[in-house]
Amino acid sequence: MKLMEKTSVISVESVKKSSLEELAGIKDAKHLEQFRVKYLGRNGVLTAVLRSLKDRPLEERRATGPAANALKNELEKRVAEKFHEFSSSPAGDFFDVSRPGKKVKIGHPHPLAVIEREMREIFGSLGFASVDGPEIETGYYNFDALNIPSDHPARDMWDTFWLKNQNLLLRTHTSPMQVRFMENHQPPFQIIVPGRVFRYEATDASHEINFYQLEGLMVGKGVSLANFKAVIEEFFKRFFNKPVEFRYRPSYFPFVEPGLEVDIKIIQNSKLKTQNSGWLEVMGAGMVHPRVFEAAGYNPRELTGFAFGMGVDRLAMIKYKIPDVRLFYAGDLRLTAQFK
Ligand code: FA5
Repeated sequence: MKLMEKTSVISVESVKKSSLEELAGIKDAKHLEQFRVKYLGRNGVLTAVLRSLKDRPLEERRATGPAANALKNELEKRVAEKFHEFSSSPAGDFFDVSRPGKKVKIGHPHPLAVIEREMREIFGSLGFASVDGPEIETGYYNFDALNIPSDHPARDMWDTFWLKNQNLLLRTHTSPMQVRFMENHQPPFQIIVPGRVFRYEATDASHEINFYQLEGLMVGKGVSLANFKAVIEEFFKRFFNKPVEFRYRPSYFPFVEPGLEVDIKIIQNSKLKTQNSGWLEVMGAGMVHPRVFEAAGYNPRELTGFAFGMGVDRLAMIKYKIPDVRLFYAGDLRLTAQFK
């Protein structure tokens, strides 16, 4: 009796010592599983000790039982921890080098951002610097400095979001940057000003209350409409990457003289009849009005320049065949997901 008692107490202790030593030396999941079966499996060493307890006297069960159970719990816990360690560690057995990596979800650029980048690149290659301007403008730069005084009927052309703060407004076009830039720079120069503009008007498939424009301005001695024509025709050919026909119509903007509008016709396949036979109006333009030069502090007798303003949204609609300008602002990811 005495001998049996001694044997079982020693056996729990010796099992503890040998198992913990063995466990410490295990370096992979395969050996860990073998260890688990050896000690904790149905026919395992510790399981046998626990099973043998029922044949022992009560005092011995009281003495040995808790120690054996505690060892069982400890080994189970440590084995589980080690399994976790091996499965989450690249050095463990569970790391499969052939497994494809986790796909990182990245967003897509907005089509208008794609278009704007392209436009900056094309104009950049033609020698135009890109400039940004404020979206909140003063009445002076948006209208007065552009030869549109407050009683001028042309102000009706731009339905304006006025801010409560005095004479501030959300710019109705990118043209205010003409005077802002000229006030601080000396010609010759050529710039573009891409940016968001706002108009207080009813929306439809081709009109939004906020949209994007790209302003262009080239000023120097002897700059003429011929320069404008060369720049703009080169731009559109590169932008659409297709042959394009142009039509120049006289038009009126108070800040240019003469003023004109440009229509384009994209020739889808020059050998076949054109698929799109319609002319598309793409921009307003003209020679900078002498009063605008005066507002900027330039001498209009010494300098000439051309300016233009194109609707970025409308060009994106043509290029990507998007039927409604409002889709750009609807936040539908199915649209943006198509752009890289
Ligand atoms: C202007 O805004 C002038 N500042 C352009 C200009 C610049 C003329 C320099 C001369 C010299 P307009 O209002 O036509 O012009 O607008 C220019 C372009 O913006 C239009 O051709 C059109 O493509 C686009 N656009 C106008 N209103 C909207 C709108 N509500 N939604 C989307 N695009 C619009």
